[in-house]
Amino acid sequence: MTTPIHADAAVKAALPAWTSGLWPAPTEPLVQPRTASRPERRIVFEPMLESDLDAVQAVESQAYAHPWSRRHFHDSLKAGYPAMLLLSEALPGEVAHPLRADGRVLLGYLVAMPGVDEVHLLNITVATAHQRQGWARFMLDALALWSRGQGAQWLWLEVRQSNAPARGLYERCGFAQVGLRKGYYPAGQFQREDAVVMSLNLVASAAVEANR
Ligand SMILES: CC(C)(COP(=O)(O)OP(=O)(O)OC[C@H]1O[C@@H](n2cnc3c(N)ncnc32)[C@H](O)[C@@H]1OP(=O)(O)O)[C@@H](O)C(=O)NCCC(=O)NCCS
Repeated sequence: MTTPIHADAAVKAALPAWTSGLWPAPTEPLVQPRTASRPERRIVFEPMLESDLDAVQAVESQAYAHPWSRRHFHDSLKAGYPAMLLLSEALPGEVAHPLRADGRVLLGYLVAMPGVDEVHLLNITVATAHQRQGWARFMLDALALWSRGQGAQWLWLEVRQSNAPARGLYERCGFAQVGLRKGYYPAGQFQREDAVVMSLNLVASAAVEANR
């Protein structure tokens, strides 16, 4: 069973700032209540900057067997693609990200590429210590809201066939498989892995959301 993507109230509160200009505009701190899997956190969305790339690269290298290189992030920023960080104030006793001078915790990030009537998700990553706490869904909610605000009808992405957590995430958020790209990803020496192409109909999922 799939659960269509749904907007968290805090994400909705941030939307006016996002639809008025480049995304993501920095948000005021949003308090995310405690859930069964995570403590209460004060979080912000901020645009990813070149100066964030040491910390981003450290998270990326831990999260993937085949991480993006610094060059991938650099090129995405240079191209002006929307790229956002999800940051949290450190909780009492929590160690902030060692590569961030501001003492905040880097929970995750995403990079997307806008098209004519679609947005292509290029990278979504949650730091390993903060996975399975709902942050990827939260970021996808934000991306879906922003994309709708831009008039996009579809969110697209590719995911490694073997990446069960990510496929689980996308299915949970209402994405459906629409194709397969043979040998799309490198996978060890002289090996390739197929990519599953998935899409989310932003118009239909908004209608479901409105009727919740
Ligand atoms: C995939 C990833 C982004 C998920 O982030 P996350 O914050 O842990 O995901 P969430 O907590 O928001 O989970 C949402 C849903 O995704 C699915 N899911 C997430 N992690 C899962 C796992 N390890 N196994 C199975 N399903 C999983 C579940 O349906 C989950 O809902 P539930 O917790 O209510 O069951 C994270 O595991 C990650 O960064 N992995 C490495 C990078 C990566 O593979 N990115 C995707 C590239 S296409």
